[in-house]
Amino acid sequence: MDQAQNYNYKVVKQFAVATVVWGIVGMLVGVIIAAQLAWPALNLDIPWLTYGRLRPLHTNAVIFAFGVSGLFATSYYVVQRTCQVRLFSDKLAAFTFWGWQAVILSAVITLPMGLTRGKEYAELEWPITILIAVVWVAYATVFFGTLMTRKVKHIYVANWFFGGYILAVTLLHVVNGASLPVSAFKSYSAYAGVQDAMIQWWYGHNAVGFILTAGYLGMVYYFIPKQAERPVYSYRLSIVHFWALIFTYMWAGPHHLHYTALPDWTQSLGMVFSLILLAPSWGGMINGMMTLSGAWHKLRTDPILKFMIVSLSFYGMATFEGPMMSIKTVNSLSHYTDWGIAHVHGGALGWVGFITMGSIYYLLPRLAGQQKMWSTKLIDVHFWVATIGIVLYIAALWIAGVMQGLMWRAVNPDGTLTYTFVEGVKASYPYYVVRVGGGLLYLTGMCLMGLNTFMTLRNRETAVARIPALSATHA
Ligand code: HEM
Ligand code: HEM
Repeated sequence: MDQAQNYNYKVVKQFAVATVVWGIVGMLVGVIIAAQLAWPALNLDIPWLTYGRLRPLHTNAVIFAFGVSGLFATSYYVVQRTCQVRLFSDKLAAFTFWGWQAVILSAVITLPMGLTRGKEYAELEWPITILIAVVWVAYATVFFGTLMTRKVKHIYVANWFFGGYILAVTLLHVVNGASLPVSAFKSYSAYAGVQDAMIQWWYGHNAVGFILTAGYLGMVYYFIPKQAERPVYSYRLSIVHFWALIFTYMWAGPHHLHYTALPDWTQSLGMVFSLILLAPSWGGMINGMMTLSGAWHKLRTDPILKFMIVSLSFYGMATFEGPMMSIKTVNSLSHYTDWGIAHVHGGALGWVGFITMGSIYYLLPRLAGQQKMWSTKLIDVHFWVATIGIVLYIAALWIAGVMQGLMWRAVNPDGTLTYTFVEGVKASYPYYVVRVGGGLLYLTGMCLMGLNTFMTLRNRETAVARIPALSATHA
């Protein structure tokens, strides 16, 4: 019997398709809000379509619907292949898929209605927050249950990263989600004042560290060696990378609250830990890059590998920029400006987006029993269109951000402000238009991926038995 039939690929495929579909939706909403910032009348005076309601819809759709679906798909695939055992429970795994879709649909309905807890990246009201917790416990049970029933002694490093992300998200979600319901759709945070802010940004920063980083590093350590057909450059470094990264991330949250009511020493501590974070981040990036030693020529012909390696370059860039922005004097210029948004999307589009797309492109043909995607040429077009889109997006907002920061702090010899706020807004307009263009290109790439996915899966009946047998080494 084919090895693949011992594994639960159904749920992997469901999440892989969900990743592509929600990617298109989330990025479309991103383009709409980007356009609203350039042309505010595009909200059409309909409350459901106002910027304040669509913005959290965008962040929730891209992070939790696109990003986390990608993590579900890849972690379920990797844990089965590297443990050489089927998922711990098919029923629970199916529950995580449908439960997660229910969470996403609830977000799609409630966020445009204006129902929100008012905490960034934790907006969903308490009944949905509870549903998330239930689905997450089921996810943890399936993942760790599979690890516990593994047929190989060693736990491959990708699973450490996936496991770290699942455990950390449980902790973050429960602590920051604590709130007091006052009606079916309204609740107040269990914390008050500056403690609330501190807990929120401990959560917010670790959402970056564990969802937008650790989980995707799990993809790096499995899919890059597989696609490059090379072992991980240094397995020892990957373990040091894991422990150093998870230890350091936990302390860096206060860099989101510089110059606020948070005690000064806490801000400085957050800054120092953010600077230290450069080391494990770059250790991981270099480990991923060096895995290509002796295989660099493959980049010429393999667009999937291009996605993966360029994603690591953006990871390196965002994790250099982040520590710089956490320095208080730099933050006094960058905070509140579009520099922050440029940083976010360098990480989100370049790192999170590209590693997810590369890994899903690796997975889809295998799930469909095909040798490769329907069109390799189209993957290449996707890669270039999206790369140009990212460069336009982040370059425009870097310029806009630094310009805004400098305009806001400029003073005349008599101490009055040189520019009114609205002058800064007016000067930002051309850059917002360029961002819409960059976003449109990135979205176009995602739509091409949608087409390629559809065509690849349509042919699945023809070739179920062509999945390569499980190789002895997974590294
Ligand atoms: C077509 C692609 C995209 C476009 C056009 C786009 C556009 C936008 C816009 C206009 C904002 C609001 C910025 C502001 O308030 O000034 C935003 C925020 C945000 N987006 Fe995107 N986005 C895209 C893709 C993504 C992806 C793929 C991710 C994550 C994987 C992402 C994550 C975020 C986050 C986390 C924020 C909030 C940033 C903050 O509060 O500092 N975006 N996006
Ligand atoms: C060493 C790693 C990193 C450090 C030290 C870091 C540091 C920072 C700093 C200082 C800010 C600005 C805070 C402010 O002024 O409000 C920020 C914002 C942000 N960063 Fe990073 N960053 C890192 C890596 C990343 C990566 C890889 C991503 C992936 C997408 C990312 C996503 C974000 C997001 C979403 C925000 C906006 C949060 C918000 O205000 O809503 N960061 N980061």
